[in-house]
Amino acid sequence: TAGPTYEPIDAVRFIGNYASGKMGFELAKEASKLGAEVLLISGPTALELKDNRIDVRRVTSASEMFEVVMENYSDTQIAVAAAAVADFKPDNCHTHKIKKETGYNTINLVPTQDILTTMGKEKRGQFLVGFALETENELNNAIKKLKAKNLDAIVLNSLNDKGAGFSGDLNKISFINQEGISTDFELKSKALVAQDIFIQILKYYA
Ligand code: CTP
Repeated sequence: TAGPTYEPIDAVRFIGNYASGKMGFELAKEASKLGAEVLLISGPTALELKDNRIDVRRVTSASEMFEVVMENYSDTQIAVAAAAVADFKPDNCHTHKIKKETGYNTINLVPTQDILTTMGKEKRGQFLVGFALETENELNNAIKKLKAKNLDAIVLNSLNDKGAGFSGDLNKISFINQEGISTDFELKSKALVAQDIFIQILKYYA
């Protein structure tokens, strides 16, 4: 998975985040280069893919992403969840544009479904890799997510690393295996980070 999700407020507004989708797209390209048959499920992004061997499914909200992921999960050998899925959504979406005079006093939020947690629960031999975006207590929080979501590995993105992140072209990651052992990488392009991630995955994928 890649990109953000947009959670609609009304006909023209949404709650979203700054994820660009670049990391997930680079992972899809790298997997395809390595010879995998790739399904890329992406939230809204301006990115295009030239590799027509990659099957791209574009979705908007967390619930749409959940549907497409779960439809395809049982046929998957390696699943990498790089999407920055919204954790909360408005409790109802107004079908019309809300007028200024009506005012927005409060938007009630409800949790979205945690796609990766469901994938972890329904794991039947898939090698499942999650991402963790942390700003404090990074390693401990990432290991907690790895265990709580029943993952085989987790990629830690720290927003504290200068130059790395969510929307830019560079990233700095640590790859944490199922035993909680972390391998740290330098700041580099997301294309090279994708190579590092698959080298690690293939070390552990039986
Ligand atoms: N994720 C997901 N569904 C959600 C939220 C997150 O599948 N509703 C996945 C992301 O794709 C990522 C992982 O869970 O692989 C971790 O996302 P992150 O935002 O770091 O963690 P959360 O579980 O949302 O926890 P928190 O925001 O409290 O750190």
